[in-house]
Amino acid sequence: MSDNHAINDLSPDEALRFYLDVGVDETIGSTPLDRYALSKASAKASKPPPPGVAVSPTKASAVAQRPGAAASVTSHGAPQSAVGQSAAITAAAATSLKELKAAVEAFEGCALKSTAKSTVFADGNPAGRLMVIGEAPGSDEDRQGLPFIGVAGKLLDRMLSSIGYSRETAYIINVIPWRPPGNRNPTPEEVAICAPFLERHVALVKPEVILMVGGLSAKTLLNRPEGITRLRGRWEAVSTPGLEQPIPAIATYHPTYLLRSPQHKRLAWRDLLAVKEKLDSLAGA
Ligand code: URA
Repeated sequence: MSDNHAINDLSPDEALRFYLDVGVDETIGSTPLDRYALSKASAKASKPPPPGVAVSPTKASAVAQRPGAAASVTSHGAPQSAVGQSAAITAAAATSLKELKAAVEAFEGCALKSTAKSTVFADGNPAGRLMVIGEAPGSDEDRQGLPFIGVAGKLLDRMLSSIGYSRETAYIINVIPWRPPGNRNPTPEEVAICAPFLERHVALVKPEVILMVGGLSAKTLLNRPEGITRLRGRWEAVSTPGLEQPIPAIATYHPTYLLRSPQHKRLAWRDLLAVKEKLDSLAGA
């Protein structure tokens, strides 16, 4: 199969088999496309402007395709789109985890929801002292609706068990509750839209300690631009609206990364020991 002509010569069945053989198992793009917004935009664009008003075509389509150009400010001080504001209002209205779960499941403002099978809300014990915050569900999690249940999840379970914790004593969530298509990284806009739900989740659970797994989790919760290599292994404080006091939080490598780079397990082990020491000291042990 050397060029595009060759694939065009195949029957649909053969072409499908070829794509599967080379690892193409998704038929969706990696960038969410809001086709409703596009069709509204083209309907608007085809309407003539009111007399005396000059409209730049580029500006008109940019505004129409970017929901919520009018902005407010997130708790991190970043500008927030209209859909982000709607997420913030919805999340703030939830007074229990049950209400928050229902609100996330009913939320239609994030395009990732339309390509995911499930809303992956949480697993584990919300009364546990430790909250683990990952990045986004993968295909196993999407299928079963629970965070960290694939291969990386098995490693996370072993990491937790090495310091005496489990899903009975820790609570596990993700920054993003929907699987990004093809496991791509969520965009900054998707993270910003989901952030109010994440913050409310933390505020409702009020864990004693947070373990942030992976760069996306650490960057989002700490509102910092550095990568995981810089952020991991240091005690920081997570404060979100609704918390009376900041929560001690530490970042470590994501188990998916550790599966590829086992030489870093040594550093992850250090981070886990720091978590155990912090929990022990907070309990006065
Ligand atoms: N990776 C994550 O960050 N979260 C999951 O739930 C699964 C894999």
